[in-house]
Amino acid sequence: MEYQLLNNAILFKEGERVLYLDFLTPNILRVSTDISHASDIVLPVRSPVKFTLSQEEGGYRLTGPLFQVQVDLNLFLRFAQLNDETLLEETSYEENPRKPHLHDDLAAKEGHAVEGQDCYEHTHAYLLHEDEHFYGLGDHVGPLDKREYRYINYNTDYPQAHEDDVLSLYKDFPFFLVKRLQASFGIYVDNPYKTRFDFGADQRQFSFSELKGSDDYYFLYGPSPKEVVSTFASLSGKMSLPPRWSLGYQQSRWSYADAPSVMNVVKSFKAADIPLEVVHLDIDYMEGYRIFTVSSSRFPAFSDFVANLRKEGIKVVTILDPGIKVDPDYSLYQEAIKGGYVATYQGEVYVNAVWPGDSVYPSFNEEKTRAWWADKCATFVKTTGVAGLWCDMNEPASFKGPLPSDVLFGKEKHEAVHNLYGHWMSKATHDGLLKANPELRPFVITRACFSGSQRYTTVWTGDNQSNWADLRLSPGQLLSLALSGMSFVGTDIGGFGGDCPSELMNRWIEFGVFSPFCRNHCAVANFYQEPYVFDAKTLANYRQWVYFRYRIVPYFYDLFYEHSQSGLPVLRPLFLEYPSDPVCDTLSDEFLLGSSLLVAPILDPGVSARSVYLPQGHWYPFFNKGEALLSGYHLQNAALGECLVYAKEGAIIPLYPTGVKNLDNEPKELVLKVFPGTGSLLHYQDDGTSLAYQKGAYNLYLFTNHDGLVSCNLLHQGYPTYERIRVITPSGETLLNLN
Ligand code: GLC
Repeated sequence: MEYQLLNNAILFKEGERVLYLDFLTPNILRVSTDISHASDIVLPVRSPVKFTLSQEEGGYRLTGPLFQVQVDLNLFLRFAQLNDETLLEETSYEENPRKPHLHDDLAAKEGHAVEGQDCYEHTHAYLLHEDEHFYGLGDHVGPLDKREYRYINYNTDYPQAHEDDVLSLYKDFPFFLVKRLQASFGIYVDNPYKTRFDFGADQRQFSFSELKGSDDYYFLYGPSPKEVVSTFASLSGKMSLPPRWSLGYQQSRWSYADAPSVMNVVKSFKAADIPLEVVHLDIDYMEGYRIFTVSSSRFPAFSDFVANLRKEGIKVVTILDPGIKVDPDYSLYQEAIKGGYVATYQGEVYVNAVWPGDSVYPSFNEEKTRAWWADKCATFVKTTGVAGLWCDMNEPASFKGPLPSDVLFGKEKHEAVHNLYGHWMSKATHDGLLKANPELRPFVITRACFSGSQRYTTVWTGDNQSNWADLRLSPGQLLSLALSGMSFVGTDIGGFGGDCPSELMNRWIEFGVFSPFCRNHCAVANFYQEPYVFDAKTLANYRQWVYFRYRIVPYFYDLFYEHSQSGLPVLRPLFLEYPSDPVCDTLSDEFLLGSSLLVAPILDPGVSARSVYLPQGHWYPFFNKGEALLSGYHLQNAALGECLVYAKEGAIIPLYPTGVKNLDNEPKELVLKVFPGTGSLLHYQDDGTSLAYQKGAYNLYLFTNHDGLVSCNLLHQGYPTYERIRVITPSGETLLNLN
């Protein structure tokens, strides 16, 4: 085996085969067979890394500041701690003793079908160790710890129930975190082709496989899970601060098909006294599902309609599908064809079908198409006044069967850009919103996306069902997304398909107000699902929880600020904060919001109590003045309308005062709910909508709590401070003097 030292990397050669190892930072090693491969996602991170290279029997050893890696004569890698304890050990890809199948390459040669006919070009397999737990990988359902499960990352419009064994859903985050007793690490597979992940289904090895494309991945060293997540965020990007209003309550339905129906929703929310921040308009607002049009019969004077709602504090978000209706009289279709902005197949424009019937597909992977699309979005936003855009069906969905792998999007084949389609559509849409309002933070929501899409968009988990199984899997799904880099996440509250029974609605909103994206949405054929269509008790519970959501907006906002700085997620599985507590490794029916609140929603029918596990320390019931609970399992009551929430000892939770029901204007008062013990809070404040914070127009407060004695240090002042800060402790209430 030969090696060559290049600028930053080392090239190993064994016969025809090559392998580049490139230390980008002390935590990140890029492993690639083609160093010239340009990533669509990875940010240019690099800091000087001192490493040593030594030759030893059977290969070489590269020792960096935090970990080491050995390369053997097969070019297999072994990653280890500095004390030589193994982290990850590459093996040859062995037959699976539990479900025998041949090595993919062999299978391909012999014409065997492997996992839906796919023969993966590259497979990296590693020894499975007893202490390993696997997390991340985006929106896949099933357990939070994915050990022994297999998945395929191929963005898929999946309208059936999202059960544990579903291999592919809408999003592709080819990133996973491996937690071991001694240290955690992550792997990001920088490949947008279909990928397959097998986290030890055969109990002997785990592997990832790439259908085609470059064999390029990143090893991300922790040692803590938090460091892995932060490091991955430095590579794939963080979300900038969202508009504050996007943290408010959002209501949707497929569809509120005309202006009177929307007005009726608005009136009903008012009558029911439930805050309503955003209304989403699904596909029927358009003229025959032609994107960038509005039906003039159903929404006459649309921009006035949007402006009038805005005056009442309600923002309108409209859906935007990628499929452009084939209609020679439709100007967008004409432009798309003329400009060469759409996919082609065997020399002709490629046609499949989505909601409008026969449709053509913009090639969002091409810069010229994105610029064109951004212009369309900008014009639409400027002329209608809508506040955000909701990108859907962008896996892309296709009703006349899957797109052939060699449909061309510009110069690239469908198979090479499929998983990036939603990502590029979100970016183009985000750019369009910015173009329309350069001073405002864009709001985009998407169904399909890729690692790194958090730079442009928020997401929801697609078409779930109004059933208990789907509620139960929701926290794990949101946590997996959060670990994969996507913090602004939510489910369709109440479930999309099916009719939501009132008990389920109660339990879903109790959980839903703790999701960053808080929207009730439901499918066309189902009963209405707005809170006021339910019985009086459900309505009262719903109201109370939405009002509570408005109270905790400042806490959410602080967590988004924290995410924008450190890449740490807003929702956190317990193991992220308590990596040395083994009970936390598999918990996903309870979660942390930041590090200070633990939420344990009821996720089963007919139940008014549940077991809650509390990690190390003292935990205080958030809603009543109960005694502190210590680490361990606790049977806790939560009747319908109640959700179990605990604050960590010493926590300071920033709240808006009671009664806030709209986020356009920030309340003048901040409430700090303070719990016994010692703790601190970094609290962030700005105007909530503009980009002025990037030029310093924000405040950063450091509050500290010593058993109820709260002090404040204003670390940065660039924005008017609160008129009043009220501190609430178990023993009473005081005003905090900012001076
Ligand atoms: C897709 C979306 C859903 C939307 C529907 C109609 O199924 O996932 O949210 O309501 O299309 O546009």
